[in-house]
Amino acid sequence: MKFGELIIGWYHKNKRDLPWRRTSDPYKIWLSEIILQQTRVDQGMDYYERFVLKYPKVKNLAAADEDDILKLWQGLGYYSRARNLHHAAKDVMSRFKGKFPVVYDDIRSLKGIGDYTASAIASFAYHQKYAVVDGNVFRVLSRYLGISTPVNSVAAKKEFNEAAFLLMGKHSPHDFNQAIMEFGALQCKPANPSCGSCPLNGSCFAYSKNKVGLLPVKGKKIMVRKRYFNYLCIHHGESIELRKRTGKDIWKNLYDFPMIETGKRISTEKLLQMEEWKKHFSKNKVQLFSESKTIKHQLTHQTIFAKFFGIRVSTALSFDGSKSVKKKNLNKFAVPRLIENYLNSADENLIS
Ligand code: ADE
Repeated sequence: MKFGELIIGWYHKNKRDLPWRRTSDPYKIWLSEIILQQTRVDQGMDYYERFVLKYPKVKNLAAADEDDILKLWQGLGYYSRARNLHHAAKDVMSRFKGKFPVVYDDIRSLKGIGDYTASAIASFAYHQKYAVVDGNVFRVLSRYLGISTPVNSVAAKKEFNEAAFLLMGKHSPHDFNQAIMEFGALQCKPANPSCGSCPLNGSCFAYSKNKVGLLPVKGKKIMVRKRYFNYLCIHHGESIELRKRTGKDIWKNLYDFPMIETGKRISTEKLLQMEEWKKHFSKNKVQLFSESKTIKHQLTHQTIFAKFFGIRVSTALSFDGSKSVKKKNLNKFAVPRLIENYLNSADENLIS
């Protein structure tokens, strides 16, 4: 027998009877997953029951007073999760007309819902083929398959997600995902797992190689630096200013736009008051015509928070060594992925 059959068979015999497993209501599944990110199953159960009792439908949560939601959340900590729940509930009411979204990207677009939660909702509520990857899944798969990529690395998420997706195959996404998480929680535990009684011990890499205690690998906590790039897309007629990145920094010799880097997120108002801004734009007639949302871009050791400002000037100007490039020639320059994504999504900005 293969992994999927074995683990789903184990699940049907050993699963706990948990309230969120008795529903296919995406709203309730969402609630349970957000609560369970904050606490253990036994404590989470009480919070879950209280939430669904007080707010049985997404419309009730959306209409609630934020203070009441925070009160009900009290004790779980990390209160932004509760505020995000409220925000997302209101979003479901306005953007999705009160019906919880079904399409993965729509689910993922709700505030506070990341890849894990979106996959959990899509698979548990709608049986869509998305693999969940949480701490349990990392542990089970790293041991079973012998994956030694540090689970806290950026690469791990993709690697484990692909592995889980392959193993899921044609099995029910709902059962497979529940099974692997439950298996990690009850059988393939972090310390002293019950390998002797494990149904997978005949094909488990770690068991056969005596490496159960060595997997999963947790890398040294890498310090990820946060940077805030305020990109200035300076348009002049048919041209735009482009800058070659030189010096000792990321993306050396690639092209991006002139930019003002700040130590933290700043408002547009504050940006316009900065010396660097005034130095370049005070003498020019400028029109700030567009402003993107903040785009988060993950590199191995840095998280970039980028914002793109569309600016039109009436007199050509160079900003920190930038050069004027015809917009139709932009695709001839090597640019980082962040810029490429922006260019692909911002045709209307570039054309205007
Ligand atoms: N932890 C996170 N999600 C869970 C679920 N659906 N069941 C049990 N434990 C969980």
